[in-house]
Amino acid sequence: MADSACRELILKAVFICLLKLAFSYSFRSCIEIPDSNHKTFRCIKCHEPDITTIVQDVFPTATNLTVSRSNTTFVQGRSFDHLSNLTCLVLDVNHIVEIHKDAFNNLHQLQILNLSCNRVSSLHRDVFSDLHNLTQLLLGSNKLNNTDMFLFSKLTNLQILNLRRNNLKNFSALVECIANLSSLIKLDLSFNNLTTLHHSHRLPESLARLYLSNNKLYKLGCDKSFLMYVKVLDFSDNKKLSFEAFQGLNLENITYLRLRFTNVSASKLLTHTNVRPWSIDFSGLKLKDSRALSSLCFFLQHHHKKQHIPKMFLKGNSIRALKNNTFYHCPNFTGVMDLSRNEMKTTGCLQFLHGQNQLESLKLEHNHLTKLMSCNKTKNLYSLRSLSYRYNRILQVSGFAFSNTPKLTNLELNINIIAYMDHKALSGLKDLVTLRLDNNLLTDVYNDSFKDLTSLKTLNLRNNQIAVIFNYTFHSLSNLSILDLGGNKITQLKPHAFDGLHSLANLYLDRNRLNMIDSSLFGKLHATLQVLDLQDNHIRYLKEHTYSPFINMSRLLDLKLDAQKPNGIYLLPRAFFRGLTSLKSLYLTNNHIIGFGDETFDDLKNLEFLTLVDSCVGIAQLKPGIFKNLRKLKMLFVENMGIKSFSKEVFGNLTGLKTLHLNRNAMMSLDISLLDNLTNLTYIDMRSCPLSCGCQNSDLQNWTVSNKRLQFPYLYNITCQDHPGSYFHNFDTNVCYLDIELYLYSLTFTFTILLTLIPFLYVRLYWKFKYGYYVFRSWFGEQWRRLRDQEENYKYDAFVSYNSADEDWVMEQLLPNLEGSSFRLCLHHRDFELGRDIVDNIVAAVYGSRKTICVVSQSFLRSEWCSLEIQLASYRLFQEMQDVLLLVFLEPIPKRQLSTYHRMRKVMLKKTYLQWPGLNCSDPSSAKELFWNQLKRALRSSNTGSQEEQKMKEENDQKRQEKDMEETEYFVNQTPIDEEVYYLIP
Ligand SMILES: *[C@@H]1O[C@H](CO)[C@@H](O)[C@H](O)[C@H]1NC(C)=O
Ligand SMILES: *[C@@H]1O[C@H](CO)[C@@H](O)[C@H](O)[C@H]1NC(C)=O
Repeated sequence: MADSACRELILKAVFICLLKLAFSYSFRSCIEIPDSNHKTFRCIKCHEPDITTIVQDVFPTATNLTVSRSNTTFVQGRSFDHLSNLTCLVLDVNHIVEIHKDAFNNLHQLQILNLSCNRVSSLHRDVFSDLHNLTQLLLGSNKLNNTDMFLFSKLTNLQILNLRRNNLKNFSALVECIANLSSLIKLDLSFNNLTTLHHSHRLPESLARLYLSNNKLYKLGCDKSFLMYVKVLDFSDNKKLSFEAFQGLNLENITYLRLRFTNVSASKLLTHTNVRPWSIDFSGLKLKDSRALSSLCFFLQHHHKKQHIPKMFLKGNSIRALKNNTFYHCPNFTGVMDLSRNEMKTTGCLQFLHGQNQLESLKLEHNHLTKLMSCNKTKNLYSLRSLSYRYNRILQVSGFAFSNTPKLTNLELNINIIAYMDHKALSGLKDLVTLRLDNNLLTDVYNDSFKDLTSLKTLNLRNNQIAVIFNYTFHSLSNLSILDLGGNKITQLKPHAFDGLHSLANLYLDRNRLNMIDSSLFGKLHATLQVLDLQDNHIRYLKEHTYSPFINMSRLLDLKLDAQKPNGIYLLPRAFFRGLTSLKSLYLTNNHIIGFGDETFDDLKNLEFLTLVDSCVGIAQLKPGIFKNLRKLKMLFVENMGIKSFSKEVFGNLTGLKTLHLNRNAMMSLDISLLDNLTNLTYIDMRSCPLSCGCQNSDLQNWTVSNKRLQFPYLYNITCQDHPGSYFHNFDTNVCYLDIELYLYSLTFTFTILLTLIPFLYVRLYWKFKYGYYVFRSWFGEQWRRLRDQEENYKYDAFVSYNSADEDWVMEQLLPNLEGSSFRLCLHHRDFELGRDIVDNIVAAVYGSRKTICVVSQSFLRSEWCSLEIQLASYRLFQEMQDVLLLVFLEPIPKRQLSTYHRMRKVMLKKTYLQWPGLNCSDPSSAKELFWNQLKRALRSSNTGSQEEQKMKEENDQKRQEKDMEETEYFVNQTPIDEEVYYLIP
């Protein structure tokens, strides 16, 4: 039992190690923003109601965390305990009703806490006690009705406190809890239920911006100096508030006072307080006609002579018309005058501004203007630079409509219903830089419409009704860098439509009806064009062609071709993108392309962004090598392209890839080793792929939950294609690992057994293995040799194996005696083939000779090669029943020494051996003669014939008896081998 538990533990450890090599991660309810370095996390629309659970797997490295649009009602204590690096925590738009007093404990780094749009009605006084670094606390749109005195007491660094849209009534209590916040700059109390500003404490002196709009204030009831440090003060939409409330109040530091839709009379306020007139926003103060405005001017002029007024806000005063010279007696307005949201039907030629010759900007938005008239006969407003007529009902712009404002640099005529714009409407605007004509009903622009606009940089004609761009329309716009023609009905671009656009960088032609890309037309822009938007046109190719419409566009960075109507590009020509060598972004979504050639993207070596989402018809497999040159690609969207497998040939070269979107493809599995090669990949989205929950994906499953390199977002929502109702992240892989476990177990077991046996086998069976191997190697050679040489036709009679120390004896004794008797001997130094492997030579020698003579001496026993030979020969002896081995003992070897050569003793036990008589023999010459005769007889004997052997053995036995009696040493049969050794070698 204990053993199996231990085994399991070890296996687990092994697995963890294996799995740590490759890896991705995912979060139950959150995603990490790609490229954020494990710092920014978002958890949006989580079904999980418990916020602690939602954020539990977010990495501790997180600095910015957003949990939004979930059904969370309660923030538990220590929910963010592990996220002590958080600097920004956004918990807006949930259903939070209650927050535990320890909810934000440990968030010592937190700077921004956003709890807006929840249902919090009260907060524990300690809930923010750890947040001493907090600079922004956003509590807007909750249900707070009171605040504890100590609620904010620890927030000594707080700069911004937002409490708008709550149910606060008690201003005094509120001031009490912020009184010590010496860093507080902005306090927003708009949309509450405050009725007075009665207070028992003072505002922090740092507080510069106080917003009190949309309360129920009717009197202020505060000290005269209470607001003396405030600079921006908003009392708008306190309907009952009248000027009396401000009487005597010190407002001298105010720079902006907003009183819109209160009951305050501007002139009385100016008369009875020390507020500076240029600080007041006069919007919504019922200054509805020239008379009211003139008297305001008169007042400003006479009480504050010499002053220039930098901004004049007169919005929402129900002004219907302004007489000429209305502002003639005002001090000089220098910056902006805003007359938006009034009810003017005409502004003539801005004659109401006569006398104002320093005004720079005029806004007349959201009025009821219908026509801009000719103004070439009125006084000019040379100071006006910016003029906005947005959101009116202008249908017609007459010729010379802006002749009175010749210095305009910015003109906004957008969001009207301009259908008629005279050829000369814009004449004279030589300084104009930005012209907005978008969202009108223009059908034609003429070749002289923009004639004078030589400084123009941005021309926006989006969302009109233009059908044709005629030749030379933009001829004089040599400084234009952005031309927006999107959302028109352009079917035709005349050949010289873009002539003169020498600086054009961005050209938007999306949502038109172009059916081709005219390379000569766009080619003219090649030197400057960087962005070309051709989305949603009617471009379609039905047959292959070999030129690229973009061939010269080597500066183009961004090309959009998505969603061609009605049925997509269809056949994308192979050379289509040739020449786009700088291109960084390419959009091709929604195009019903039937297939991509493998060289389609070859020129796009600098591409960083590519989207092909929904670009195919059905299943159009990506060709191998299609992305081979896109090494700089960082983001790739290949959603819904029918991709069935994620192959190395297609994706393997995308080494720069960081984000990969593979959603809605047909892949059932994913090879994780390939992802390991994409070393920059940090995000892979595979939602809505029919991932199988079978063993082929068990690695993927493990991999998706373990490491920190690669995010696999929404993993926990991915279901099993083949097991409806179960989830990919936890499908049961035990079955798969059981196999592997068993496999690993048997592997480990075998390994252990082997480890135990190897030393033993090494000692006992080493040579057997080694020779088995050599014999196997020689076997083939032998087989064919035998085939070639059917009868036992040996090349040599004997292969002589000896040690070089005994060479003299071999050369002087053996060779003359045997070769003299016409025996063919094989000697290694003489007969081995040069250059052949020594082992092969030995094998060939042993098998190429009828016998092998081993010249045994002390030196021989020490030599490995000789041992190899003797073992090979003895292998033949024992295994092939070939009697090939002849042992010749040159010197007496002590029995004790021989016992270490087990095999030698075994051979000696089974076989004849001869002892060289040597020098200390009593009758050397006759003994030698006998020796040679014996040797020659043994050499002649048949290898298989056991008769001879039997004879020799009998003879040996006889001789042994003789030896026993006569103590001769001519034939030595060693004493019986001890049984043990014998049996150990089977
Ligand atoms: C929140 O709850 C409502 C009603 O119970 C449900 O309709 C909605 O889908 C839930 N939202 C989330 C994100 O779970
Ligand atoms: C993270 O929060 C900090 C404020 O603490 C902010 O400056 C930064 O822009 C935020 N980063 C992101 C990616 O939202």
